[in-house]
Amino acid sequence: MSEKWNDLYNTGISRFDNINKKIVNDMYLLSDNIAQGVDDTKNHELFKQIIHNMVELWLFEENLMEEFKYPKIDSHLSAHKRFWNMMKKLNGYFESNIYLDNIDLFKDLREEFLNHIDFEDKKFSKFLNEQGYEQLDYV
Ligand SMILES: [Fe+2]
Repeated sequence: MSEKWNDLYNTGISRFDNINKKIVNDMYLLSDNIAQGVDDTKNHELFKQIIHNMVELWLFEENLMEEFKYPKIDSHLSAHKRFWNMMKKLNGYFESNIYLDNIDLFKDLREEFLNHIDFEDKKFSKFLNEQGYEQLDYV
């Protein structure tokens, strides 16, 4: 698989960037798989891997927001919730064995995720860096 991540999406917090990169590359791979007619069972496994990485990332992110008393926590959490609802809907399609040939659904998901990184995650990372977070070396 070719690497699709663009360093323009780096937030400056290495753990966010490493997991975001995995998620984005997997989202591209999923679209490629669907375009190539890969079996839905395999695609569902890949989708579950995306969910797993996302849960890991967001738990980490949300704990940091509380720990550092991030002032924009409410809007960030509601963006996570909106995105999570999109993920649940797509997971439901996999679970009900609805044949997933609509690549646009996954393209929308990926674009929404990249927008989230670009706006919400970068704002939060900037805040963390201003608090000297990367120098605290928790990661
Ligand atoms: Fe986020």
